[in-house]
Amino acid sequence: MSDEPILATHGLTRRFGGLVAVNNVDFDVTPGEIHAILGPNGAGKSTLINLLSGEISPSEGQVLFHGKPIQGKSVRQIARMGIGRSHQKTNIFPRLNCLQNCELAGRIHMGGVFGSWRSRQRAQKVSERALDVLETCHLAHRAYTPAADMSYGEQRQLQIAMVLATAPSLMLLDEPMAGMGREETVQVTELLESLTDRYTLVLIEHDMDSVFRLADRITVMVDGCVLESGPTDQIRASEKVRDVYLGRHHEEATA
Ligand SMILES: Nc1ncnc2c1ncn2[C@@H]1O[C@H](COP(=O)(O)OP(=O)(O)OP(=O)(O)O)[C@@H](O)[C@H]1O
Ligand SMILES: [Mg+2]
Repeated sequence: MSDEPILATHGLTRRFGGLVAVNNVDFDVTPGEIHAILGPNGAGKSTLINLLSGEISPSEGQVLFHGKPIQGKSVRQIARMGIGRSHQKTNIFPRLNCLQNCELAGRIHMGGVFGSWRSRQRAQKVSERALDVLETCHLAHRAYTPAADMSYGEQRQLQIAMVLATAPSLMLLDEPMAGMGREETVQVTELLESLTDRYTLVLIEHDMDSVFRLADRITVMVDGCVLESGPTDQIRASEKVRDVYLGRHHEEATA
């Protein structure tokens, strides 16, 4: 596989009034890797993802996907280019069943009207893919269960399935394990591990065990800036990271 970045940012900056949420960030993702973003609350992780998916525009700097700027493209256009994302808060249609949720995600991504013969064929493909991703996410037995009737952990898994349903080449996952118990966290970690040979992932996650197990590289953000970025072993051994992030995280966790 080529080591040319699939995605890169240069001097990426986003201000909200006087606050610099993302400050001059250079970040890249190479094909096939899991690149985790760590950082305390308010570090700018979600804002970075929002910039990568085009949900917000940079104040300065740029995002390149396969070497081309995404600036000026709509969220839907960027999704069609192959960037799929999940949100920190669960974002599903509670009354629809799992299959319908995945079909809807796939359809939105493909766009178009589903009336003609060709579009019926496309709809068929979307349905097949939806079943396929439910299988991948261990939710096939829940295909016809309304999302609202599932456990929180299953809903978070469905969220991942919905991203997969859009057939992304790059997945941006914002805290997929947020609010999960230990057992569910391990389950989702295993699910993400099973995706590693087929997908490139940017993963925001607070669960250290999962991050250290899954990530090839880690970028640590503090106050909008990159504190350190490198292979997982480097970050695990970094005193700077331990002092500034792990120390603070530990204090938060034990406060
Ligand atoms: N739309 C917005 N308007 C104003 N301020 C914002 C907005 N979005 C984010 N911020 C601020 O930017 C900073 C970074 O927020 P962000 O959500 O990116 O942090 P985070 O690292 O994802 O934190 P968490 O771990 O709590 O999810 C915070 O101070 C936040 O209050
Ligand atoms: Mg966040």
